[in-house]
Amino acid sequence: MPAIVLVGAQWGDEGKGKATDLIGGQVDYVVKFNGGNNAGHTVVIDGETYALHLLPSGILTPSVTPVIGNGVVIDLAVLFQELDGLEARGIDTSRLVVSANAHLIPSYNRTLDKVTERFLGKRRIGTTGRGIGPTYADKMSRVGLRVQDLFDENILRQKVEGALEQKNQLLVKVYNRRAASVDEVTDELLGYADRLRPMVTDTALLLDQALTDGKVVIMEAGQATLLDVDHGTYPFVTSSNATAGGASTGSGIPPTRIDGVIAVLKAYTTRVGEGPFPTELFGAEGDRLRKAGGEFGTTTGRPRRCGWLDTVIGRYATRINGTTDLVVTKLDVLTGYDPVPVCVAYEIDGVRHDEMPMTQTEFHHAVPIFEYFEGWDDDISGARTLDDLPPAARRYLEAVEEMCNAPISAVGVGPGREQIVAIRDLVR
Ligand code: GDP
Ligand code: IMO
Ligand code: MG
Repeated sequence: MPAIVLVGAQWGDEGKGKATDLIGGQVDYVVKFNGGNNAGHTVVIDGETYALHLLPSGILTPSVTPVIGNGVVIDLAVLFQELDGLEARGIDTSRLVVSANAHLIPSYNRTLDKVTERFLGKRRIGTTGRGIGPTYADKMSRVGLRVQDLFDENILRQKVEGALEQKNQLLVKVYNRRAASVDEVTDELLGYADRLRPMVTDTALLLDQALTDGKVVIMEAGQATLLDVDHGTYPFVTSSNATAGGASTGSGIPPTRIDGVIAVLKAYTTRVGEGPFPTELFGAEGDRLRKAGGEFGTTTGRPRRCGWLDTVIGRYATRINGTTDLVVTKLDVLTGYDPVPVCVAYEIDGVRHDEMPMTQTEFHHAVPIFEYFEGWDDDISGARTLDDLPPAARRYLEAVEEMCNAPISAVGVGPGREQIVAIRDLVR
């Protein structure tokens, strides 16, 4: 199974970084295909914690070539900060390759992201403020700046000039901000060009050759199914395609070459930012789950909203992504809960819905219908096979598998690289 997509099944922070790291030893390339430094993946190796934002999780495995694909938006200052940070900790980052077609996040888009949120007030999205939305909007409006533009100063300057004609109107007249100057923006970007140049390549061609040579390629999503701009809880989403379909457009690997889709599903649900969340827990109940799971954002440090597992969402993720393998994470966090509620359907305006409703209005009205599962008290963090788990935990997993319509291939029982119950090989 040489080309595998790995996505998040819920609203992000499912443990995608750990799941990618887990199979790192069997993989040759890890491609990030969407998003930017709005992502935050925490990977724990031998007790050392690494927080990654823009870099693919594969950067931590010496035998992996990490790839930033064309579908990614890059903040160059963050890229080099992250590379320097890892180098300072003894991680060799020299293998990184970057697509010439990836888009750059210019400073004015970071400003615009923050001021639009402020102006939206109560209707804000709760973005990470990293300039992601405005940069993808520029890409679609065809006024974006790409990595390759750094190597043609004239073109870059022309493009910045063109973009600023519109952006400065917005910044100054609508948002009462300082105008950005063409020189300031161009010079800042050019300042990174020499350091970036050796990493830049035609990554779609590189990956095509790798697959032809029988190499194993993982396409790793940032964000997750319900944050996908098409299939998520729009407008409370990110601005890219975080579902399996996005892996093709964001990497240049065609759908016919993709062999499997791993969806990472947290044993409960979290969400950062605004938007509907049917199984959300509030007050002391929410606090207990947040504390047990350490649910504070890797990128912005914001407390994550927490709630019970929602298998309507799990089924939806299987359907939209074509999931071949589920990796269930953070099962250990549910230890001590009895019973464990799982949402199996919604009641919406008096009608039962077993599938995601068609409209956002209905989703906002969704009231979860719960089934209650017997809990367990035993510490499961040392479990490595299904037989090591208490019967109640196994029954919980069987129910998840059945309700989410996909087989579970691995279960996370702690943050460490080795804290995993392996059921079947993810790379086949
Ligand atoms: P990502 O954005 O999907 O890569 O996920 P994050 O890294 O933002 O959030 C997942 C958090 O859960 C990280 O702090 C991981 O170290 C941690 N984690 C991952 N898997 C497990 C697990 O099975 N059990 C526990 N307790 N923590 C886990
Ligand atoms: P990983 O890869 C969780 C959320 C933001 C906000 C919305 C839009 O770690 O799972 P954006 O800055 O992307 O325009 O914000 O999306 N969001 C995430 N939530 N995990 C993430 O990434 C996220 N990336 C963006 O909180 O609600
Ligand atoms: Mg995260």
